[in-house]
Amino acid sequence: MAKAQTAFVCQSCGAVHARWQGRCEACGAWNTIVEEARETPQSLSPGARARSKGPGLAFENLDGIAVAPPRLVSGIGEFDRVCGGGLVEASAILVGGDPGIGKSTLLLQAVAGAARRGIKSVYVSGEEAIAQVQDRARRMGIEKAPVKLAAETRLETILDALKHEKPQLAIVDSIQTLWTETLTAAPGTVAQVRACAHELVRFAKKAGTVLILVGHVTKDGQIAGPRVVEHLVDAVLQFEGERSHHFRILRGLKNRFGPTDEIGVFEMGDAGLREVTNPSQLFLDNRGQARPGSVVFAGIEGTRPVLVEIQALASPTSFGAPRRAVVGWDATRLAMILAVLETRCGLGFGGRDVYLNVAGGLKITEPAADLAVAAALISALFDVALPEECVVFGEIALSGDVRPVSRADARLKEAEKLGFTQAFLPRAASANSSASKMAKAGGQNPRLVAGPVGVKHRVIATAADLVTAITGEENPGPKALSEQDE
Ligand code: TYD
Ligand code: MG
Repeated sequence: MAKAQTAFVCQSCGAVHARWQGRCEACGAWNTIVEEARETPQSLSPGARARSKGPGLAFENLDGIAVAPPRLVSGIGEFDRVCGGGLVEASAILVGGDPGIGKSTLLLQAVAGAARRGIKSVYVSGEEAIAQVQDRARRMGIEKAPVKLAAETRLETILDALKHEKPQLAIVDSIQTLWTETLTAAPGTVAQVRACAHELVRFAKKAGTVLILVGHVTKDGQIAGPRVVEHLVDAVLQFEGERSHHFRILRGLKNRFGPTDEIGVFEMGDAGLREVTNPSQLFLDNRGQARPGSVVFAGIEGTRPVLVEIQALASPTSFGAPRRAVVGWDATRLAMILAVLETRCGLGFGGRDVYLNVAGGLKITEPAADLAVAAALISALFDVALPEECVVFGEIALSGDVRPVSRADARLKEAEKLGFTQAFLPRAASANSSASKMAKAGGQNPRLVAGPVGVKHRVIATAADLVTAITGEENPGPKALSEQDE
């Protein structure tokens, strides 16, 4: 029997199936399987086999000469920081994100910044016509930057041009639009995306160029997800944000040359993206006086402390099962905090719809937000505002105990910088942290004590402590609730 010339490949995860089916068994995605030509590797010609004789590969020791890799700086501070302090020569970076979020805008600004600093830069657009990119550059006031611009989608043409131009920085926007003549599959399919990315990355490594690839991520997985490219590149950055909000966050997901939890914050305006060097100010913008259900969380995003407002609403359920809606936080984590408050403190959220929102559209992933979320929920339930100018942070265990979190000092310093005077926080784990010194000063029953920074700390040891701290009553749970419900 003749061998099948085609294969059925999932465009979301790259799994190969024997026949077409509606759902990919490997990743569970629907409608992502596409028939593609099966490519068989050519066997090496006798000449090539002869060339590969002999050792060929030189091994080296682990303790090579320690040199920091040279970095190219684009001058866009937030971008450079997420990259780990600049772009490393001969590296490949994938910038992913939803369509229309601002990837092209960001990279055009970065490439212009780099070009202005004397870095030989090339921008290849596979999506927009040259005039469109020029128009955008003019609107952003960066049209004078010496960037070499081209619009092309054929991989071979792009590679030839890059080999000829030998740029230090090359942007290819986007990887999904490229196609290589060696494959018959349509642009955007896994085979094409993988082959094009592979060739471009190989070029970057060989020529010492910094290559930045743009990749769209679509939730329905119809277009080959950049996931199939992730392992080929040195860094994966995600550009995210709510389209209804102005600000955007560049997040490092993988980085061989820097920290992965770093974020860069930008604001989208009429003239492109503006760097936001003090994100706390942005996320706390328009914050009036303290209101019930609103709590300021002192978080850490990457290396930076960021203050952000967490809002909760607990309204009586009018019909059926109570709703739980979360924006900017993990729904499972919210369910856990609600369960802890119900079980350990006797608070009744059963008959209430609970809404939780992280102001400004930021997505929080830190467990340190637990205590702030719990505070917002308690404050909403009892309709009592937290003390004004108060920040909250700490992790809550299922037992109801509040666990210490990392970098308490940095969080408190940021709070102080922005005029906050009080903090609800866990007992610190490390003996030399300011929070722990404060806990000692507070003795057995710590109350408000002035810490080494000008923020008064109140140690919260358990979830029940938090209820007391907010409502001012020892065990107000069931009592207050029954009063309220009557
Ligand atoms: P774009 O960079 O084209 O998104 P992507 O490359 O991720 O698909 O950004 C498109 C959006 O950005 C579009 O909705 C318009 C908006 N935008 C501005 O608001 N101001 C600007 O100066 C620019 C250039 C774009
Ligand atoms: Mg684009």
